[in-house]
Amino acid sequence: MPNNEKTLILVKPDGVQRGLVGDILSRFEHKGLKLVALRMLQVTKNMAETHYGEHKGKPFYNGLLDFITAAPLVAMVVEGKSAVTVVRKMVGSTNPEDAAPGTIRHDFGMHTGRNLIHASDAPKSAEKEISLFFDIDQVVEWKKDMDYWVYE
Ligand code: RTP
Ligand code: MG
Repeated sequence: MPNNEKTLILVKPDGVQRGLVGDILSRFEHKGLKLVALRMLQVTKNMAETHYGEHKGKPFYNGLLDFITAAPLVAMVVEGKSAVTVVRKMVGSTNPEDAAPGTIRHDFGMHTGRNLIHASDAPKSAEKEISLFFDIDQVVEWKKDMDYWVYE
């Protein structure tokens, strides 16, 4: 299994407004994942429709678009062995009430519609989502010396 699987993480507008960007980013750094891209932006309606296209027509869709476009968010790409699965586990269940203690949504969240964070759900969607939020040259390939102490 290569150590270079990438996944997209969004600290949603509620996470930014609540001042949780540093805490959330720290969790991924402390886990041993490698940060390879980072930016802050306010998502446009168009981008939001592309990103959440799979949910079009669902009862929460319009509210979700309003929420994700309401204020800036922070997008990042992290890399590591099985990064997609590892990050989804750290994020926790969609509804913070169901999320396990120790997960981000449990530890910081109260409500599904304000669940702080997005993470890609499969390597294929990660690829698509990374290209929606980042130009290819904004994803930095670098050697993290600490990896020697993270992976055998
Ligand atoms: P995400 O895509 O944001 O990482 O979250 P997820 O995979 O855990 O959940 P997903 O089913 O993809 O839903 C996307 C986002 O829509 C909002 N949602 N609201 N009110 C509701 O029933 C409901 N269901 C989903 C959440 O913000 C969820 O993260
Ligand atoms: Mg999802």
